[in-house]
Amino acid sequence: MARTTIYAANWKMHKTIGEVEAFVQTFSNYDLPTGDHEVVVFCSFTGLPVLRSLASHLGGTYGAQNMYFEVQGAFTGEVSPAQLRDVGCTWVLVGHSERREIFGESDELCRKKVQAAFAHGLKPMLCVGETLDERRAGKLFDKVKTQVVAGLDGVPAERLADMAVAYEPIWAIGTGETATGAQADEMCRYLRGEVAKLYGADAAGTLRILYGGSVKPGNAAELMAFPDIDGALIGGASLKPDSFRDIIVAGSGK
Ligand code: PGA
Repeated sequence: MARTTIYAANWKMHKTIGEVEAFVQTFSNYDLPTGDHEVVVFCSFTGLPVLRSLASHLGGTYGAQNMYFEVQGAFTGEVSPAQLRDVGCTWVLVGHSERREIFGESDELCRKKVQAAFAHGLKPMLCVGETLDERRAGKLFDKVKTQVVAGLDGVPAERLADMAVAYEPIWAIGTGETATGAQADEMCRYLRGEVAKLYGADAAGTLRILYGGSVKPGNAAELMAFPDIDGALIGGASLKPDSFRDIIVAGSGK
């Protein structure tokens, strides 16, 4: 089935308020291809009100890079799903490898966050991926399958269309080392097969599975050409409006 491609910017811990404004102003002047794709920007909490006020210029939706799963309460330093809705978020990243590796987020915590996102009308983008050691040891499929199965636990089939999975091999993030199209496609196809075992092929066909890890204007066309890769989650190359645009342009030749 046809799935709308997603080009998602993950700005990580970058951009002041002024820099968010400047990005949107420049980006809104571009003549982007009108093909069947969706633009999403994942920004720091402090930039979200700026994206809300400039939403009509962004030409897409936006979301947070993290949240807690509880509705409210004594969780100093955390941000709730309701607060993200309040500032106009459509999406939320769940379980980015930097959250898992640096902040110790577990599969169980990610599962709760996916559930909380849906309960509050947010679309979760669940990030999964293996380390280089795991790939070398041939454990990549088991690792990523475990993360996806845990994250989807409790998600009904009809919600798969309202979320996404981002396959981001950890060894390819921020390293300049991209998975080859064949490696990315192999994992995305494998994951769709595993999701089909849980939900059936029709429902699995509604889930967007993105690739992330050193996506750049120069490799976007190759990666996006694979039928099971439904978009890109882009870190470094999304920080400048022109390179984010160039990735969208290159990919939408699809
Ligand atoms: P990168 O980051 O594009 O800089 O490799 C991707 C990500 O971490 O989402």
